[in-house]
Amino acid sequence: MKSPFSLFPNFSRTVGLGLLSLLSFVGFVAIDPSWAAEEDKARWNKKYDTETYLFGRDPIPFLKDHVDLLPKGAALDLAMGEGRNGVFLATKGFQVTGVDISEAGFKKARALAAEKGVKLTTVVADLEQYTIPPNTYDVIICTYFLQRDLFPKIAAALKPGGVAVIETYTVDNLQYRPTFNKAFLLERNELLTLLTGLRVLRYQEVDNGNAAFASVLAQKP
Ligand SMILES: C[S@@+](CC[C@H](N)C(=O)[O-])C[C@H]1O[C@@H](n2cnc3c(N)ncnc32)[C@H](O)[C@@H]1O
Repeated sequence: MKSPFSLFPNFSRTVGLGLLSLLSFVGFVAIDPSWAAEEDKARWNKKYDTETYLFGRDPIPFLKDHVDLLPKGAALDLAMGEGRNGVFLATKGFQVTGVDISEAGFKKARALAAEKGVKLTTVVADLEQYTIPPNTYDVIICTYFLQRDLFPKIAAALKPGGVAVIETYTVDNLQYRPTFNKAFLLERNELLTLLTGLRVLRYQEVDNGNAAFASVLAQKP
């Protein structure tokens, strides 16, 4: 079925959904949320359909630099993509599960894992719908994917003592990518406020001349 977003190719999912919600409210359209997921899936499968690893094969430096602070065990990589972080954790002895909407990303993640001689569990799912089981993970990572309603779910899904590692762009990144949808950018200091109930052990905001992002490492008491 044709997605309504293909009618508005320059609209983001958020703007498109907002418009559809309005039309739905006034009785013109019935929204099927799977349209939005199909749109995301198709877009990411297309982007990942290249041999190059778009986000690289190495973990983000913030994860690499702090891996010794992470309790060993089960790790969940939300919006895993091509696997750069999840595969790194697997090489460090974590049992890693990745969740992502894109099968094409997972194909590359599994190839990277095979190359490094480690295993991953991969779950193709829309994070807007996915239920994360509570008190299950020692580590949860989520990088360069901002869905604000995931944060309470991440806190709930960690075991006591478990650690979340989150990194994504802030509004300061607009100077490098002016057309980026601001809805998916963190405000300055916002990441400090999103992991309610967790203790922040490390936090940074970086502007390295190419990108501006924030990173947090926070522990469930
Ligand atoms: C910018 S990439 C980041 C990938 C990875 N975390 C990294 O840092 O390399 C964003 C990822 O979010 C995934 N994604 C987008 N919408 C999603 C959704 N609704 N549910 C699950 N994954 C989604 C995409 O497939 C893509 O792999």
